[in-house]
Amino acid sequence: MPQDFVKIAQRGELMPGKMKRVDLDGRRILLANVDGSYYATDDTCTHEESSLSKGFLKGDTVKCPLHGSRFNLRTGQVLDDPAEENLRTYPVRLDGDDILICLT
Ligand code: FES
Repeated sequence: MPQDFVKIAQRGELMPGKMKRVDLDGRRILLANVDGSYYATDDTCTHEESSLSKGFLKGDTVKCPLHGSRFNLRTGQVLDDPAEENLRTYPVRLDGDDILICLT
């Protein structure tokens, strides 16, 4: 069964090195542009209720603004304490100028 991809943004909305939060289907998604490639993960830190989109993007890692844990955006892997759980990642696809992600 093919996966369902839904539009989350347009390419022009997010320049390289930028990220933003998008609320989609009741979920808070972090969308980041890393050197022209797009990555989507949960926006809420796995440590406490903090929005990673308000943190810092460096290369392909995002740093939580609250206690500084970093996560790899490609894999969701947690890189530092105090967070211990990985971030959920979502597959991303491009369709023309549209950025699509799969939520299932
Ligand atoms: S809330 Fe993100 S590291 Fe604590």
